Amino acid sequence: MRDDARFAFHDLAPGEESFRDAVWRGLAGPRKAIPCKFLYDERGSELFEQICRLPEYYPTRTEIAILEENADEIAAQMGAHCRIIEFGSGASHKARILLQALDRPAAYVPVDISREHLREAAASLAEDFPDAPVIAVCADYTGPFPLPDLPGPAGKRVGFFPGSSIGNFEPEAAARFLRNYANILGPGGEMLIGVDLKKDPHILDAAYNDRAGITALFNLNLFERINRELDGDLDLDLFEHFAFYSESKGRIEIYIRSLANHQAMIAGRRFRFSAGELIHTEYSYKYSVGEFRELAASAGFRPVDTWIDEGELFSVHYFRLR
Ligand code: TRP
Repeated sequence: MRDDARFAFHDLAPGEESFRDAVWRGLAGPRKAIPCKFLYDERGSELFEQICRLPEYYPTRTEIAILEENADEIAAQMGAHCRIIEFGSGASHKARILLQALDRPAAYVPVDISREHLREAAASLAEDFPDAPVIAVCADYTGPFPLPDLPGPAGKRVGFFPGSSIGNFEPEAAARFLRNYANILGPGGEMLIGVDLKKDPHILDAAYNDRAGITALFNLNLFERINRELDGDLDLDLFEHFAFYSESKGRIEIYIRSLANHQAMIAGRRFRFSAGELIHTEYSYKYSVGEFRELAASAGFRPVDTWIDEGELFSVHYFRLR
């Protein structure tokens, strides 16, 4: 569907597993887990924005500072008339930093599964950057999908995947995700990707266990959401937020922990929880520069450049496909 030359919206009608089915499935087995994408309902997204402003949560502000400080160099790397393809674009906050610095970008292609948020974010971006055509694509980018024809003089195709979201996949799934990205970008494609670095475990622990307790609210909102949307009767006093850094696995592990033996009803089904039982909600893998380059290489990406803040907290990599 083409709205005008500067703004188009392609709806590839991705099907989404229902929240109910995911929760039923996730709580049925002996190792309970609920996919992290369900953390981000309206309340969850609000709480996550608060997390991004917490003193302990360094990733967001550090990545933004790296992008801003190196915007000219990054823009030079991307060249004139480039087409930016961002997977999981959300509110497109970080893409704005690039668009401000780029030389006549030929297209900005935000890809997201959340249809209405994508439509709003893409429309507002098109208004703020009248010279950059915005071609929004509503799709599930964890699998293959066709990119629409992109307008303008042919520049590079550059993937943009900020926020260390790659760290939320387990390494094998991350490699698969990068291979899919590579296939969609095509030969000669390039990629700008933000990756949280390995560092002092105390800094990592604090980032996921803030003193104000916002991260706990964010994590537990998943169970409140179950109560709100799935007619659940989970007793929030019988659960707590639990997150720690595993040095051997190189990842933050995030769970909701049951504090007692008890049971609860969710959409008409009964579930049992035992004292101390963990319900997994997210992993957040951390990579050294070398480790991440190795992972990217397995998907055909060769390192071109890497930018890091002075505190060595966060990295932004630039890759080119073989
Ligand atoms: N993707 C973010 C990260 O890995 C999300 C996040 C931050 C998160 N804090 C959390 C997810 C707490 C669940 C619980 O940093």
